[in-house]
Amino acid sequence: MTRSAATAAETEFHERMHAAHMYGLWELASQMTRHPEPQAIPYMWKAAVLEAMVREAGEAVPVGEERRALQLFNPGLDGKWATTNTMIAAVQILLPGEVARAHRHTPTAIRFIMEGTGAYTAVDGERVYMAPGDLILTPSWAWHDHGNETDKLVVWMDGLDIPLVQALNAMFFQFYSERQVPLTKPTNASVHLHGHASLTPTWVKERPQSSPLLLYSWDKTYQSLGTLRDAAGDEWDDLALEYTHPQTGRALLPTMACWVQMIRPGKRLKAHRHTGSAVYYAVQGSGETIIDGRRFVWERGDIITLPSWALHEHANRSTHDAAILFSIQDRPVLESLGLYREEAYSDNGGYQTVTATFKA
Ligand SMILES: [Fe+2]
Ligand SMILES: [Fe+2]
Repeated sequence: MTRSAATAAETEFHERMHAAHMYGLWELASQMTRHPEPQAIPYMWKAAVLEAMVREAGEAVPVGEERRALQLFNPGLDGKWATTNTMIAAVQILLPGEVARAHRHTPTAIRFIMEGTGAYTAVDGERVYMAPGDLILTPSWAWHDHGNETDKLVVWMDGLDIPLVQALNAMFFQFYSERQVPLTKPTNASVHLHGHASLTPTWVKERPQSSPLLLYSWDKTYQSLGTLRDAAGDEWDDLALEYTHPQTGRALLPTMACWVQMIRPGKRLKAHRHTGSAVYYAVQGSGETIIDGRRFVWERGDIITLPSWALHEHANRSTHDAAILFSIQDRPVLESLGLYREEAYSDNGGYQTVTATFKA
């Protein structure tokens, strides 16, 4: 057989194979990459833009059937409803007097309060009141509505595992029959029951997968960070604290972990990478995060997305003031599937060479 005849026969075979919905592994070998090559890119949404857009949304769009939440789409993901491959972050505003109607869904949600005191989220009949820096949970399939009875607007960051739930084809959504779910528990009931560090009520036999504590207050978080001010910390994350499930001590949600980390004044942390993605929110101070050689200079209110396996290192730009980052991470998923992997960067003393600076 001549070479050209072989090629023609091969081509013809491939065409018939593809028409039968089959592909040869020899055609797909390049997809078995040596390491993760995410389609999501590192990106940053600046506070000024987020704030202006969300306020404009407050005037331009009524809070109708859906929440008034601006979803942060990763520019690398071709218009997919996703900030990373597994998580979506959004910024949501609720004006004085508004109620976002009750619904439930299989995606799990967290809220990190950015601005405004005294509005609430009601979760399965319990109202949880918000203050800036508070972390509030809405576990999978829990009924929830939001209300603002104050005279000032509230803004928060939402974090949900929607792209993951979509990929698993496990999306369920329902509206409640009324605008709000009737209250069946006292305000902050979960805090009264489960909000005692290292002291767990023994009579509660239920061990839900998601933390039964719905509110992690900024007061307590900030106090803990302050108490640890002189602790050793971590070379890559400095004083990083994970919010935990009060009964198990593990990640507070099956699909997402939440961290808060203080980067002390003048600290330049080392670079590392790991599987799993993250979204950071700058709570306080100013700093920079170098991701795959690109410098992201951040200040209070900015939101940054970090894809899986990207090299990253954080630094505080101030020599006087602490910088604080809050983050959501899909690490519990990677860990429970045995896919979590971490690697310290060893070249150049552990610091990347900066080749570009991010501009929105
Ligand atoms: Fe929701
Ligand atoms: Fe990291």
